[in-house]
Amino acid sequence: MKRVLVATSGGDCPGLNAVIRAIVKRASQERDWEIIGSIQAYDGLLKEPTEIVVLDEKKVSGIHVRGGTIIGTTNKGGPFAWPIKNKDGSWDYVDRSDEMIRKLQYMGVDAVISIGGEGSLQISEKLFEKGLNIIGVPKTIDNDLSMTDFTFGYQTAVQIATEAVDKLVTTAQSHNRVLILEVMGRYAGWIALNAAIAGGAEVCLIPEIPYDINKVVEKLQTRFSRNKGFANIVISEGAKPIGGDVSGEQSSEVGYENLRLMGAAARLMKEIESTGFDADMRETVLGHLQRGGIPNAYDRILATQFGVKAFEMVLEEKFGELVVYNHPKICSVPFKEAIQKEKLVEPDSNLVHTAKGIGISFGD
Ligand code: F6P
Repeated sequence: MKRVLVATSGGDCPGLNAVIRAIVKRASQERDWEIIGSIQAYDGLLKEPTEIVVLDEKKVSGIHVRGGTIIGTTNKGGPFAWPIKNKDGSWDYVDRSDEMIRKLQYMGVDAVISIGGEGSLQISEKLFEKGLNIIGVPKTIDNDLSMTDFTFGYQTAVQIATEAVDKLVTTAQSHNRVLILEVMGRYAGWIALNAAIAGGAEVCLIPEIPYDINKVVEKLQTRFSRNKGFANIVISEGAKPIGGDVSGEQSSEVGYENLRLMGAAARLMKEIESTGFDADMRETVLGHLQRGGIPNAYDRILATQFGVKAFEMVLEEKFGELVVYNHPKICSVPFKEAIQKEKLVEPDSNLVHTAKGIGISFGD
């Protein structure tokens, strides 16, 4: 019996279950392969007693339509930085990667498929360098991985953000207000840009194009120059004014090193008020709604393609590589290449040009 361990790590996103299902279904067409899952990323493997589940066809039946991940995930810690609480209440981090690899050998695991984002990819690369047979599957709603055209979860997030804009447009119009919607995406403006175009916002502020508040207000004024104006703004959580920084807080959660981006919409509202612009304004932070729920058809299909490909890469022993989508092909690239650079919105790209062509202001 040959064995593949699957782990989902980092923030969840719609489509993770569809990948797991595809791996299991594809493996069931080969003789003597067993798929097991580590609960909560590698935590299940590192815990005593271990938390490992067998993923068979019965277990994965129908899960492609479900959000989240049936094996759980975490974006804290990991094998290279496992948090240990000291007697005085402080925390230290220890490297348990060798122990984890030994455990996998002892369990008779032939290969690992890691479904994760950028942080997980860095971990996968280090594990591969240590000799682990590992394959990566990219996931993130942020769509910020440079080697793949799309990550699954992203299109669903854009749909959710667009529906939010659609709803806010009607209420902005009823009350003659400026409504500001803050969306996720970290340092990439993909979700904001796409939702602003699809939903018909007047202003779109993204990390890649720092904004001048006077230019934003100029655009709002054109909307309010006639009686009973209204306007909708979509702002990325990572947007920043020219010369300013992102709005966020360093997390105090154990094992979570990230700067938590938050407050971009609230800050923008204050900046607009400070110019003397006089209209009612409200902010909505869409938050984790963008990561939850049913994946749309596109993401289910992409996730299924990634899952089938990942298992076939195990058969081909193509370790140390990440499954990617380069239209029209599902192929793979070495981890090293995949982690080199983020995929950000190019300010002079076609999509930004299109948005400007329909009058959307980026505050530049
Ligand atoms: O990377 C996905 C993402 O949802 C980002 O868009 C967001 O900044 C971050 O994760 C939020 O992370 P958490 O769920 O840990 O607060």
